[in-house]
Amino acid sequence: MKGLILSGGAGTRLRPLTHTRAKQLVPIANKPVLFYGIEDMAAAGITEVAIVVGDTAGEIQEAVGDGARFGVQITYIHQEAPLGLAHCVLIARDFLGDDCFVMYLGDNMLEQGLAEFVERFEARRQRPSLLDGSDAGPCRAQILLAPVENPSSFGVAEIGPDGRVVNLVEKPAQPPSNLALVGVYLFDSVIHDAVRAIEPSDRGELEITDALAWLIHGGHHVSHQLLDGWWIDTGKKDPLLECNRLVLDTIVRRVDGGVDGASKVEGRVVVSPGAKIVNSTVRGPVVIGEDTRIENAFIGPYTSIGKGCAITDAELDHSVVLDHSRIDGVGRITDSLVGQQVQVSRSPDLRRGLRLMLGDHSHLELG
Ligand code: DAU
Repeated sequence: MKGLILSGGAGTRLRPLTHTRAKQLVPIANKPVLFYGIEDMAAAGITEVAIVVGDTAGEIQEAVGDGARFGVQITYIHQEAPLGLAHCVLIARDFLGDDCFVMYLGDNMLEQGLAEFVERFEARRQRPSLLDGSDAGPCRAQILLAPVENPSSFGVAEIGPDGRVVNLVEKPAQPPSNLALVGVYLFDSVIHDAVRAIEPSDRGELEITDALAWLIHGGHHVSHQLLDGWWIDTGKKDPLLECNRLVLDTIVRRVDGGVDGASKVEGRVVVSPGAKIVNSTVRGPVVIGEDTRIENAFIGPYTSIGKGCAITDAELDHSVVLDHSRIDGVGRITDSLVGQQVQVSRSPDLRRGLRLMLGDHSHLELG
């Protein structure tokens, strides 16, 4: 079993952050989204992993390296333009050979690990009829489905009267069900015939959803499993904050940095080495990155602050702040996503008014 992680594409929905940064490297609890996927592969015993990269190849390669620190061996595959998820399979043909593989969307995060999903696929491939009572031949692909409120934003499954998936459609205006395709798929080598056979969709992409539909309509056995636990497509601000909240709920307290006598660090809080908490309250779950200084501040639950930041005379909760940003004297900030090297401060100028320098596609909500 090999692994294929898709980290090409352009993250338009997380602009302006992703003007400068791959959306798969946006941190959740101070760790890039992509790292969770690689760790999941390693935990499922998959050691040969390819990452499809596009315009942001350089920073992804710099962050991930050769994979040794995750216990896997990484191969990079360059995609010249985001031509679709099935196009990624097409260009990964040499790497994949005829092996089975897990395909993982680099901006998705799942609570459920991969190990059980992979084991079930392997069992179904060998003894399909014992597991689901069918005589449909070996399983060629396995998908994960989750009920969602807005199925039109996803690939959607149509389930037949016998409980099998009878069709799959990408972002349908009239969804046949509320069951969305989660961004983790298992395939055997028949998928290579499918990705060669399909045509680009109306949005000009080779859709993996169409390749799966091609398998089903050709009589191949595509099994499905309902997702256990949470799943988040981190490509938008609010889901990203929600994902940060869910992951912070699992952290273990660890205080390596300095906390002065006037400060309180309550509950599950990680204070990384070199960080300093001065005359402040930090109420977990919270992660504070290396060399960050918190002074005269309140850091409330579900906040992740990157490394090298300075938060002074401010209140911050339910927010994500990326590396080397400075927030100074601005009152309360909540439900916010702050990029790298951002400065938010109060002006010494006594004339009233906001003085802004916002990047393209920024969002500012004044309370
Ligand atoms: O999140 C689950 C959904 O992911 C599924 O329900 C849909 O069926 C599936 O098409 C996909 O939809 P998205 O519109 O969310 O896909 P997105 O364009 O965000 O791409 C997902 C990941 O794949 C992302 O990390 C970027 C990468 N990618 C995307 C394209 C189109 C590539 O590496 N190359 C590409 O050509």
